[in-house]
Amino acid sequence: MRVLIAGFGTVGQGIAEVIGMRQNLFSSEFGQKVEIIGAFDSSSFAGNPRGLDPAELVSQKKTSGKVGVKRADDMVKLIGELDYDALIETTPTNVVDSEPGLTYITTALNAGKNVITSNKGPLALKFRELCRTAEKNDVQLRYEASVGGAMPIINLSRELLRGEQIYSLRGILNGTCNFILNRMKDEGLPFEQALREAQELGYAERDPTYDIDGVDSAAKLAILANAIFGMNVTYHDVTRTGIRNISEEAIAMASEQNKVIRLIGEISGNKLEVSPRLVPSGHPLSIGGTLNIVQLITDLAGEVTVAGRGAGRMETASAMLSDIIAILTDEQAKCR
Ligand code: HSE
Repeated sequence: MRVLIAGFGTVGQGIAEVIGMRQNLFSSEFGQKVEIIGAFDSSSFAGNPRGLDPAELVSQKKTSGKVGVKRADDMVKLIGELDYDALIETTPTNVVDSEPGLTYITTALNAGKNVITSNKGPLALKFRELCRTAEKNDVQLRYEASVGGAMPIINLSRELLRGEQIYSLRGILNGTCNFILNRMKDEGLPFEQALREAQELGYAERDPTYDIDGVDSAAKLAILANAIFGMNVTYHDVTRTGIRNISEEAIAMASEQNKVIRLIGEISGNKLEVSPRLVPSGHPLSIGGTLNIVQLITDLAGEVTVAGRGAGRMETASAMLSDIIAILTDEQAKCR
């Protein structure tokens, strides 16, 4: 399988490393290598039809700030014309017009390539159009990494729980907010300081208002509504309140009642909402740190809860690896 990596920040570098680390698995399970035939960031491009060394790409990026030496001229043209099997799209989320990711993904799908993306913007705004484009071109669009990093909620719900009726979903979808709320409660830190710490950990979005105003959670909730509940919504359809106005006093009052405040996303019936809620201490949704968690209510299995790290270099790469493996498995099944 030949892949082209679009975007070579934390996530792009992480998946390149993991592709390098898992070559033995690809060979033993699928009888083939996964080769990176190209990678680009916002200013440069590295390409070789015979495959690039992932470690060299990461080292080149670390030392020079660029993944390649060639100028990144017309990436859309390259995405449409290069010879590869899957685009791995890891450009930053933009919920205004979802570019450049939207054009990259659409171009690849229309060129008959599978797409694996971690980018929430295009999926939170144009989910159905993208699915239709993938279907029309008989290729896969996979996006496990777009919600909850290493918390495997999408593939779990769509594949392993396919026989279930899933009635509703509630969960914590933003690690930055969870970290802030937790630090405010446990250490009595003021909001601004807790936010600064979250930014230093590298969890916050490039624009942290996406986190604290619930935009990131709403985008993820819209993706889950489309992917798991078959809805046709955008993040604008989510009723949203962030955590900007949660005071130290409110957190202390919750503590007195043995409760914590958490930013909860909920899908039930027609309700699509992200808002701060009181959760009893010890309840699964009172989970701390930067963890994400989702609880599904299903007809046969009852309550299914899945938690995991919501962001991070290797964690997000782990989700993208599961999508690479799903595509390889699908191709293997077609060959039998
Ligand atoms: N800013 C996000 C979070 C990163 O804090 O959860 C993962 O989407």
